[in-house]
Amino acid sequence: MSEFLHLIDLNDYNVSWWNTLLRLAHEIRTSPEEYSKACEGKIMGTLFYEPSTRTQMSFQTAMLRLGGTIIGFDNPATSSVAKGENLKDTTKIVSGYADIMVMRHPVEGSVKAAALTAECPVINAGDGGHLHPTQTLTDLFTLIEEKGRLEGLTIGCCGDLKNGRTVHSLIKAMSCYKDNKFILVSTEELAVPAYIKDMLSAAGVEYKEARSLDDVIGELDVLYMTRIQQERFASEEEYKKQKGAYILDKAKMKKAKSDMTVLHPLPRVDEIAIEVDDDERAKYFEQAKYGMYIRMALILTVLKNNGKPPKLIKGREHKNVECSNPACITHRELYLPHYFEGNSDILTCEYCDKRTLI
Ligand code: NCD
Repeated sequence: MSEFLHLIDLNDYNVSWWNTLLRLAHEIRTSPEEYSKACEGKIMGTLFYEPSTRTQMSFQTAMLRLGGTIIGFDNPATSSVAKGENLKDTTKIVSGYADIMVMRHPVEGSVKAAALTAECPVINAGDGGHLHPTQTLTDLFTLIEEKGRLEGLTIGCCGDLKNGRTVHSLIKAMSCYKDNKFILVSTEELAVPAYIKDMLSAAGVEYKEARSLDDVIGELDVLYMTRIQQERFASEEEYKKQKGAYILDKAKMKKAKSDMTVLHPLPRVDEIAIEVDDDERAKYFEQAKYGMYIRMALILTVLKNNGKPPKLIKGREHKNVECSNPACITHRELYLPHYFEGNSDILTCEYCDKRTLI
């Protein structure tokens, strides 16, 4: 198994590693010219099996601003994937050409699956409805630069908390900083998955669930809005039932604290009215730009490969156990070993984090 500094899940690293990255991103932001040749001669491969604007382009500009070059695809239909090539073969080949590989894929656990056999460090740019660690690094960097702290915040997450991978990664990360509280605003159908709530309870982090944004907006220091993730619904009808459930507008902003920060990973559909853009508390466009600096810091750190990489697999193979999550990569790429953590009758899938009773 490969020994690279992959970034699959931010929680594979500790808070001091994240903080070092945040400090480096700040340094790069203040003196970008000092880093303009830092990755000369290095190549980044970007494999985007799913649409992306910000994540893909911020990674690409990050590498170009560090003096490196880029290869890759953003439409698997124009690569050998269209001929039926499996994930392992495509990613093994590209990781042999590139020095660092950034990958987004619609299936949960797919990026970890690629990292198992990759020949260079792999970065998760979003794996289905599961995780999106570099968006979270972007969010942390935005908060530290705009609010000056990552502790003692009441954070509201609103929208599609079931399928929104950005909120899953954000909650996991922010619960590692002291005295943060969460207010999770969603419809019953789009509530945050059980494994995230269990993680919050186990860590002793205060949280509550709410159905109305109006009722709780006044309590928040940060409001993290997300779109309803249409592409993850089983049918158009199911999506239509949820569409437009939460819309942040001027009237709601009047009830919020004068220093509440509004974030959104973007793209927005209709969940933030355009009229909110002019409110000085709206920071989502700045957030997208902060994403480029933190990705520059991440590329530099991963390519340096200082320190011991975290283990990709912490548990072991259970040949006869199937993951209970139908959206898990193990149900698509059938050659993958079935790795699980845990020893009792509840096993946690190493790819998608969902639990399976045996
Ligand atoms: C997010 C994503 O892809 O998960 N976008 C992004 O990376 N900035 C959020 C979304 O698509 O809703």
